Amino acid sequence: MDSIIICNNIIKKFENLLIINNVSFSVDPGEFLVLLGPSGCGKSTFLNMIAGFERPTSGDMLVMNNKVTKPNRNYGFVFQDYALFPWLTVLGNVESGLFNKTKKEKKEIAEYYVNLVGLNEFKNEYPYKLSGGMKQRVSIARALAYDPPILLMDEPFGALDAQTRKVMQQELLRILKDFKKTIVFVTHSVVEAVYLASRVIVLSKRPSNIIYEEHIDIEGERHFTGDKFNFYREKILHYLNHETGVRE
Ligand SMILES: Nc1ncnc2c1ncn2[C@@H]1O[C@H](COP(=O)(O)OP(=O)(O)OP(=O)(O)O)[C@@H](O)[C@H]1O
Ligand SMILES: [Mg+2]
Repeated sequence: MDSIIICNNIIKKFENLLIINNVSFSVDPGEFLVLLGPSGCGKSTFLNMIAGFERPTSGDMLVMNNKVTKPNRNYGFVFQDYALFPWLTVLGNVESGLFNKTKKEKKEIAEYYVNLVGLNEFKNEYPYKLSGGMKQRVSIARALAYDPPILLMDEPFGALDAQTRKVMQQELLRILKDFKKTIVFVTHSVVEAVYLASRVIVLSKRPSNIIYEEHIDIEGERHFTGDKFNFYREKILHYLNHETGVRE
């Protein structure tokens, strides 16, 4: 199986500051890869390079066998701060990513995804009337609406309270069940990582490289408890704490 994302010997500097120090990994179609690492180690920068917002200083970034040189439509991006258009309704925001469609088609597609994320009743509201969790649902619907093969998610639930966050994590798995997406997801939460991921990569502090990698091999529906869950959580936390300087 060909990898859908290939990062080869990626080095990234901003001016003379070395951020990412020779990182290589690849992602297979259908994987849910979670990137963890200390603040400032370059996780967002990594997503931005996959998206083509940033270019590596050296090394190759390939998505679907093509070198990434600019933003493109291979991915939907979900940002921590939702990044909704305040002047568009829920439906309008979801429609905003759709091109080459008639007005009627756009509306039908947007209605389908708004319904999928559970916001049918709010489809004609503007973002200021929505809670954080609801805004993030809109943002996920918008990212899915043009059916990209890849989803890039940068701490999408970081701004939510603990309860809403759990609901959104469960919802994300429910929503994704019927789609064959490849996901690269950034978080600071080890629990979130183990709950969602098929694979976790832990980056060191800047200049970052990969210090640990783990396949999360939990069969069936995920829960936030259980021996395997706790095993993975503790192991990953151990490596992360070492990098962030948290004492165990
Ligand atoms: N456009 C930019 N110009 C200059 N420096 C930048 C730019 N973007 C990021 N940086 C620097 O690169 C480093 C990595 O930033 P990045 O946002 O990728 O970290 P992160 O791992 O996502 O951190 P956090 O967990 O806090 O979100 C930081 O030191 C940051 O200041
Ligand atoms: Mg970041």
